[in-house]
Amino acid sequence: MLDWLDSRTGFVTMTKEFLTEDVPGGASYWYVFGSATLFAMIVQIVTGIFLTFFYAPSAATAWESTRAIYLNPYTHLLLSIHFWGSSAMIALVFLHLLQTLVWGAYKSPREVQWIVGVFLLLITLVLGLTGYLLPWDMDAYFASQVSLNIAGSAPIAGPLIQSIAQGGGVMGTNTINRFFGLHVWLMPAVLVALVGTHLAIFRHNGAAGPVTDDPSKLKAGRFWPDQMFMDGAVSLLVFFVIMALAIFAPPFLDAKADPTNSTFVPYPAWYFLSLFGLLNLVPPEVTIFGITISLELVAALVVPAVLLIAALALPWLDRSTTRSFKSRAGILWTTTIIIIALVALSFYAQHGIQTQEAAGPPSQSQAAILAAGAPAAAAAGGGAAAPANANGAKVYAANCASCHGASGAGVPGAFPPLAGNAVVTGDPGKVIGIVVQGLNAPISINGTTYHGQMPAWKGNLSNQDIADVVTYIRGGLGPNKASAVTEAQVAGYKP
Ligand code: HEC
Repeated sequence: MLDWLDSRTGFVTMTKEFLTEDVPGGASYWYVFGSATLFAMIVQIVTGIFLTFFYAPSAATAWESTRAIYLNPYTHLLLSIHFWGSSAMIALVFLHLLQTLVWGAYKSPREVQWIVGVFLLLITLVLGLTGYLLPWDMDAYFASQVSLNIAGSAPIAGPLIQSIAQGGGVMGTNTINRFFGLHVWLMPAVLVALVGTHLAIFRHNGAAGPVTDDPSKLKAGRFWPDQMFMDGAVSLLVFFVIMALAIFAPPFLDAKADPTNSTFVPYPAWYFLSLFGLLNLVPPEVTIFGITISLELVAALVVPAVLLIAALALPWLDRSTTRSFKSRAGILWTTTIIIIALVALSFYAQHGIQTQEAAGPPSQSQAAILAAGAPAAAAAGGGAAAPANANGAKVYAANCASCHGASGAGVPGAFPPLAGNAVVTGDPGKVIGIVVQGLNAPISINGTTYHGQMPAWKGNLSNQDIADVVTYIRGGLGPNKASAVTEAQVAGYKP
């Protein structure tokens, strides 16, 4: 049976070759970073795919669908795993590169493998950045605004890049869609292709092994079973750590993005804290000999670009002929100093954010945010709502106004008016039925016929929200002055 499969596919031989792979110097826990990164990536892909089942990318639904994900314990766990998995993945890619760097494993013949690795770190960071926006809460909005503005400040192509990434002049549904496309499709595709390349090159070159003057003296080791066991054990450990964090320290969903809020202090993901710190540290600009230089630009773009180029060129910057630590002291010291600087800047940024937050208004609890639904600002489109039914106005602005118009005037020929509509102010049970079940039959209002698809709201809105919005359209739109309906009426509705 296996022979049959092997003669047609070569899979069995391939697996054998893979398992008996040479591990110079024997198995070691030093070699687990690559496989642990791969494992974290798989966790991200699996949880990410399932999250797309529940997430709806648009300004009117991104936060709302994320809220729904938080309210269901299973999807909440899924999201929390994805959240901590991203941190794990970035930390592991970084450690993997750091170890390669310290051991000098980027040296010939592994230059290309190293370069692909640096690009993998870059792609992982882009995935973190684009994913950060998707919940569309206050933090997602304002932190992403910072990164979009940084992109926009780049010389020459900056404004164009910003407007492409943003999908227009301001952040909105287009921005969410751009980031969503990058996050769930383009970047993962590039990531998987690069990981494939990275592994193929690894198979070609073999493992670099420990730092030694004479590799021929190393005792030969095999991948199976020792290295395989260590890789598996560490991946399992990574999984437990992600699970524990997901369960005991789930991420925080802030109130829905409100562009008019001017006091919100955005906090970046931890892996961008150092950059944030550098930006806060430098004065915006300096004038030397009459020439004004934007230090902000230097901090935000020039420094990261120089670091990136140095990392890519590392195999050639390192002129030593051996991998020994002594002959590469310069590289190792520079690396140490850069890492100390990154950590110090991160602490500096964290401290700055905490001071600012302490000075600002107190933040809401997670439970209060999840219970509240959309922020009051959304009600602005609802017109003269009675304050007693602010939630109805909110629900209307967020779910109904896109079709029926902010003040219920409808769109002639497409969406019926709700203001001045006798059906809406008539039998309350009928109105509840239409909103709960949707409507797809020709109707005639004030002499105009409509035949469109009114979505069913059961399941998308809570009974309370439906009761509030029906109360709102019956009593708060235009001349409508009909009675309110209660949650019990909605809950008791039978088709
Ligand atoms: C995607 C567009 C769309 C959205 C969003 C929408 N509706 Fe409708 N609605 C329609 C269409 C189209 C009709 C007419 C259906 C038909 O012709 O059968 C309709 C009909 C109605 C009617 C019946 C009017 C009548 O005279 O019979 C009510 C009431 C109503 N909608 C309320 C709401 C409420 C409340 C919301 C928000 C919770 C909402 N709609 C959201 C498209 C929409």
